[in-house]
Amino acid sequence: MLILDHTARLGGAELALERLCKALDRKVVDPRALLFEDGPLHQRIRRTGVPVGIEPMSPRLGQLDRGSAGRLSGCPRVAAQVTRFTIRLTSRVRRLRPDLIYTTSLKADLIGIAVAALTRRPLVWHVHDRISPDYLPVTMVRLVRLLSRVPAAVIVNSHATARTLPGVPVVIAYPGYEQEQALAAPPRKAAGRVVGMIGRISPTKGQAEFVAAARLVLEEYPDAQIRIVGAAMFGAEDYARQVRRQAEDLGDRITWLDFTDDVGAQLDALDVFVHASPVPEPFGQVVVEAMIRGVPVVATRAGGVPEILRDDDQLLGILVEPGDVTDLARGISTALADPEGAARTAEQAWASARERFSVAQTAATVTATWRRAAASVR
Ligand code: GLC
Repeated sequence: MLILDHTARLGGAELALERLCKALDRKVVDPRALLFEDGPLHQRIRRTGVPVGIEPMSPRLGQLDRGSAGRLSGCPRVAAQVTRFTIRLTSRVRRLRPDLIYTTSLKADLIGIAVAALTRRPLVWHVHDRISPDYLPVTMVRLVRLLSRVPAAVIVNSHATARTLPGVPVVIAYPGYEQEQALAAPPRKAAGRVVGMIGRISPTKGQAEFVAAARLVLEEYPDAQIRIVGAAMFGAEDYARQVRRQAEDLGDRITWLDFTDDVGAQLDALDVFVHASPVPEPFGQVVVEAMIRGVPVVATRAGGVPEILRDDDQLLGILVEPGDVTDLARGISTALADPEGAARTAEQAWASARERFSVAQTAATVTATWRRAAASVR
């Protein structure tokens, strides 16, 4: 089974892939991976014991973001580069003789269609992005939706993502957490007022909305501490600078911390975890991570997040309107006003998330899908 991912940078889908690799039952599957660039994911996958190689894309192709990829796909020079890369990749894949090709990023999904056809291998897509015009350029949406009928199977990370591929039979596999990421018991700690966001700094994650909401919260709770943990990636450095400027007058009431590997420790230091994405998030792994650490969650009601924060009819946190600063502030203040109530809900969230989102379940669903796909073309 061959995994293809175009990026070796650590986005959410790549962190999910690393955990999946660790969780695979190697008596049942024999995975290996090929990345289209070198980067931190390379070592991380290697450390899971899955052999991993690199088939480099030209840096220009690798750097095309979703917007420009959609616009430039018709440009002859880009088309020629994609063709050359696809031919090189195909001959590498042919030598590896996988029984199945599994792609985990949009660029790999699209190139995977050609590689699978040329090598006559079954293809399984794992889609981590919402295929929707509020998330991707329209040309990309059309192309991906059209081609999503080709793979032997399409796995998606949430019902929210599934809804963006209408008419396509999909398998839902929620990204799962590892046992050691979760607290063994819900925390018992004194109520404080540290309110924070953890994640990549980006307009799609909503740090600007969070800072604006925090300003309102501080009027009501002047002793609250605001915390933003994360680094800018994928060209969001200007946005990061702008948000910091916007927050300058908050002085030492706001703390900025760089991205760290130890998300658990960062979460344990929070009394309220905020997920402020103004655009619908396909899934939202960090929300699950907050739940399994027993931290009360305030999150925007969009994309995959309501699926995570609801178990049947029970609401496991506070949902607010995406992009609405006043509603976000209201949600945070509600949690701060009733710490016992927030802790009780967080305890239910802890239990529910532990049961619903283990990576063992993800691995079982994904492996079963691979097997069905491989069998369907034999
Ligand atoms: C992508 C999505 C994110 C999801 C992750 C894992 O990074 O943007 O919402 O949690 O993949 O599926």
